[in-house]
This record gives sequence, C-alpha cells and structure tokens, in this order.
Amino acid sequence: MNEKVEKVVRFPDNFVWGVATASYQIEGAYNEDRKGESIWDRFCRTPGKVQDSDRGDAACDHYHRYRDDTKLMKSISLDAYRFSIAWSRIFPRGKGQVNQDGLDFYERVVDGLLDNDIEPFVTLYHWDLPQALQRKGGWTNRDTVGYFKDYAQEVSRKLGDRVHFWITHNEPWVVSFLGHHSGIHAPGIKNLSTALQVSHHLLLSHGETVAILRDNGDEKTQVGITLNLSSVHPASESEEDKKAVERYDGYLNRWFLDPIYKGSYPEDMLVLYGDEAPEIRAQDLERISTKTDFLGVNNYTRTVVKADKKEAFLGLSSVKPSGAEYTEMDWEIYPPGIYQILKRVHNDYDAPVIYITENGAAFPDKIDENGRVDDESRIKYLKGYFLEAHRAIEEGVKLSGYFVWSLLDNFEWAYGYSRRFGLVYTDYLTQKRIIKASGWWYKKVIEKNGIG
Ligand code: FCB
Repeated sequence: MNEKVEKVVRFPDNFVWGVATASYQIEGAYNEDRKGESIWDRFCRTPGKVQDSDRGDAACDHYHRYRDDTKLMKSISLDAYRFSIAWSRIFPRGKGQVNQDGLDFYERVVDGLLDNDIEPFVTLYHWDLPQALQRKGGWTNRDTVGYFKDYAQEVSRKLGDRVHFWITHNEPWVVSFLGHHSGIHAPGIKNLSTALQVSHHLLLSHGETVAILRDNGDEKTQVGITLNLSSVHPASESEEDKKAVERYDGYLNRWFLDPIYKGSYPEDMLVLYGDEAPEIRAQDLERISTKTDFLGVNNYTRTVVKADKKEAFLGLSSVKPSGAEYTEMDWEIYPPGIYQILKRVHNDYDAPVIYITENGAAFPDKIDENGRVDDESRIKYLKGYFLEAHRAIEEGVKLSGYFVWSLLDNFEWAYGYSRRFGLVYTDYLTQKRIIKASGWWYKKVIEKNGIG
C-alpha cells in the first residue's frame, strides 16, 4: 500500500474555475455575416509577421462550433468562461453602423453558456481593433477612446442583463509595447512614444467605460481590467541589477497599476521616458482611476533582469536562469511567481477582488496510439501554480477565481498555430477536439474544488 498521503488543498467556497479564450484566436469566420476587417486580419496577410504565414481566417471555427464547444466546457465542469468580443463583428468599420448579426452571435453564445450554468466573463478588447480605425491612427488617436465607449455601449445594452462580469481590456502592456514598440504584434508599429501614447489611451478608454457597463447592468454587474503582471527578480545581488528590477517593474507592472489604483503614473518612469512620455490631459488620471470591482491578473512566468548599458531603452536585459524548466514559449516555469505577484498586488494596491484571468502552458502535445493526449507536463505546471495561488489565498489575498489559458489549442498570435495551450486538443484539419489528460484532471479539481 502506498503510505504517502497527499495533502488535500481546498479552495474557498464559490471559488470560480474557468478557462479563457479570445475572439481572433478561436472564432475564424473572419469575413462572415458582415464582419469587418481587423488589424489581425491585416497583420496576418503582411508577409513575415506571423510564423508559417498562419492566419486566423478559420482558427478553431468556433463561430460555427460554439454550441459543441459549450458542451465541451460542460463536460469539464467549468463554472465560468472568459471570452472576448470581436469589435469588428459589432462595428465592421469600427464606428457608425451597428451590425446586428454580430450582436446576435454573442447573444447566442451567452445564452448557451447560461443554459449550461456557465458564467460568462466578457472581455471587450482582446487586441482585434477594426482595421478602419487603424487607418485613422488606431489607439494613437484619442478619438478611438470615444469609439470604444460607443462599442461598449452597444454590447452592454444588448448583453448587460445577462453578462455580469466585464473586462474592458486584456493586457494593455502587450497592446502598447508588442503592438507599437517592438512591433511583433499588430499593428506592427515600432516607436516608443507611440507605444506610450497608446498605453495612455487604452487606460483612459478603460476608465471611461466603467460607468457605461454599470449603467447597462444591474446590481450584480462587476467591472474590471486584465493586466499581464509578473514578479521581477535581479540576476545578482548587485545594486545595478536591483535598480534594473525597479525599472523593469515600472515598465511592466507599475505603469499600469499606478494610474488605475493611485491615479498617477510612476514618477521614476515619467523621468525615464522624458520627452517620449504621453500627452496627458486634465482629468485623464481621475478617469483612469475610476473605481472598479476586480482586477484580472494574467501570469505565466517571472522575469529575471540584469543591468545592461548596451540596451538603450531601459538599460537592462533579461536573463534565463540556468537549471530552470521552460515551456515551449521559452517561458520559465516558476510557480512561486504567481504567489509573489498576487501578494504584491494585494499589499501595494487597493483591488477589491482579484481573478487570475489567464495562466497556462504550451507544450508540444501529441496524440498517442490510443487517440489520447497525455500532457503530464501541463498537469504538473497547473498543479504547481494552483498550489501557489492557494498559498496566497491562505495569506489573505482576495482571489476569487482562476481561468486557465486556454480551452482549446488556438491561434497563438505571432507564433501562429505552432504553440498549443489548450486543455482540449484541436486538429486544425478536421476541427476535431480531444480533451487532453489535463482537461480531465482540471475537471476533477473543479468538482472537488481543490487538489489531492
Ligand atoms: C496572453 C494573451 C493570450 C494568449 C496567452 C498565451 O498574453 O492574453 O491571448 O496568447 O498570452
């Protein structure tokens, strides 16, 4: 008999277990039912931007298969499903004429979830800006803030009686810096001051939308934003490396958390950015810091940095700790990082409630001879992170739920279809889905509300 007794770890009652996806990554049907072009439709058609020239034209064909995908969610016993709305389905040209077909699609998705007792968490912006707005400057143009409010108005007027959890933006850091500084994401711009102006407009559009979502909802309505946050560590104990940590933390974490929770940009970063800092108008910061109901945190890894004078931008470079394990994204597997970032947000910021809105891992999954996908490494990854999140809860962090990225293997942005994050395997040729071992394991976690 096995003498080893595993400790049973229980999560709080009513803890929400979910999965997350995003419109462009799963829907496909890129030009059906009057959907307009988005910046990702365009980016994928720009040579050299996406691995293997992959495109989200068909993706997981979720647009046509959402009913079956909802059944899959049910078979994993999910409490909640986080997905995003494609702005270009609602306003094909970003503004002006509303496309009823787009609204009707998301209404069917939401009703299907509710019929299955799955709580919808809706993200308004997960990176697929209508291309027509990009032509007018996209997020560099302050008018886009107003168009975003109109879009939020239409969507919440339609769904606000049934959707109670709204996320304005997903990862504004990624939109700003990968989209407008390194240019590895759509729209592929490479300019620091543009990126910083974009970050400001994204945050402003968040703050200005909170009241709209509340007005179109009811007493159950909860509004938040999702940030990609991570703990930052020095490569050595040297003063230079510790200062590099401060700068990276300012760039990744504080630049977004401070305006939302403190109504100000971090002073050290304003100094560092100098002339590149965004134009900020009177009352902008007041609006950005409008009180919200929860913070969504996406966390996959940690960052280790060392001072590096050769790097003109922040004077640092990131370091890959040796001996560590990495996922297929080359992201270090570091479960204590989720504990550290949760504690940090809890201690330094006044978020009423936190959800982990994304966490998960890419591994090179294979279908075995029995037709199964045995992804032990993903189970190990998730278990490690769940336990560390639990540790944070035990120490008082108000974590209310956890969303695994992702339901399905899907279009992983600049990596195309080469990275599989799903609890469910997608065969892109046949669109057949296979629940992986991690999906069955997650089901047990949900049913027991714990591990062990
Ligand atoms: C996050 C994105 C999500 C997915 C995961 C792997 O940055 O929000 O869409 O691509 O990374």
